[in-house]
Amino acid sequence: MNLDKLVRENVRQMKAYSSARNMHLDGILLDANENPFDIEGSGFNRYPDPNHRDLRERLSQYHNAPVENIFVGSGSDEIIDLIYRIFCIPGKDNVVIPEPTYGMYKVAAELNDVSVKSCALDDDFQPDTEVINQLINPDTKLIFLCSPNNPTGNLLNSERIKYIADNFDGIVLLDEAYAEFAINDSIDYLNTCPNVIVMRTFSKARGLAGLRIGYCIADKQIIDFLYRVKPPYSLNCYSQKMAIKALNNAEKVNIKIETLLSERLRVYKFLSQQEGIDRVFQSDANFVLFRTDKSLELFNYLKKNGVIIRNRSTQLNLENCLRITIGTPEENDIAMNLIRKFYE
Ligand SMILES: Cc1ncc(COP(=O)(O)O)c(C=O)c1O
Repeated sequence: MNLDKLVRENVRQMKAYSSARNMHLDGILLDANENPFDIEGSGFNRYPDPNHRDLRERLSQYHNAPVENIFVGSGSDEIIDLIYRIFCIPGKDNVVIPEPTYGMYKVAAELNDVSVKSCALDDDFQPDTEVINQLINPDTKLIFLCSPNNPTGNLLNSERIKYIADNFDGIVLLDEAYAEFAINDSIDYLNTCPNVIVMRTFSKARGLAGLRIGYCIADKQIIDFLYRVKPPYSLNCYSQKMAIKALNNAEKVNIKIETLLSERLRVYKFLSQQEGIDRVFQSDANFVLFRTDKSLELFNYLKKNGVIIRNRSTQLNLENCLRITIGTPEENDIAMNLIRKFYE
């Protein structure tokens, strides 16, 4: 991987903003024009640690990866945007996105004026290595892979991911937002594929979507560029603290994951047996995608009765497909009863 060639010239040349808390977290802090009085008794009168030291230390233990290979952002969505800004020259470069997948990859491309080379995942929703190879040109900087994939729910084949990374001179962003719901066959990309950025989030299995915490594990030089370009204080104090708490409370989190996995099986079985539903896709995530001729009618019926699911019918190869997130057992009962009633 030749990062000198991959990273935008202006990003390589720029100096990061040197924030006060970047340099000092302790002492008599008269350097950042903060209010010295902790009026709410929360400690939030101080700016957050822009280097996320405590959280990265904890993530480092959790993933058994060096601290310098970990970046934390304000949600994965911030990381996606930063990666575009580091690698893609607006108006010139392009990215490859196998679809259907998470919509923000494309939205962030549009925002950054980067063109998208879309291709279809194959019939099993796996990336087609040949098709991807044919799309790549010298201006292709990123390939987006999502595993388990949203909205299809399946894990991507790790040998194919590795093959794609090995045969690409740019960066593969491997989005593992739903990894905790899958049997994790994630390989050690850090040591085997230096051009892969593995991205995770606290928004799904760890139950902290409202706090906006995403992170990625990658080559140290990539992490350095991420810390150079991010806004200094994008991840607030409370989020950093709660993320550590969630990692320390693994037992509590795991119990909820177990519940969601057994609920996923229950919802999957119900949908598979329901007349009128033509296909239910196997899921390694906390949602299930299914196909029905009456997709719009069912979607509206559920909505009218207070249950909101996601209509994914306009995505590539997902005609008449709806995605239902796994809720609490009680919520799932309500949704399933309504679906049963709809088809009666
Ligand atoms: C595949 C995938 N990646 C990333 C995200 C966003 O994660 P975050 O909340 O960390 O920004 C989502 C949210 O739905 C997602 O489905």
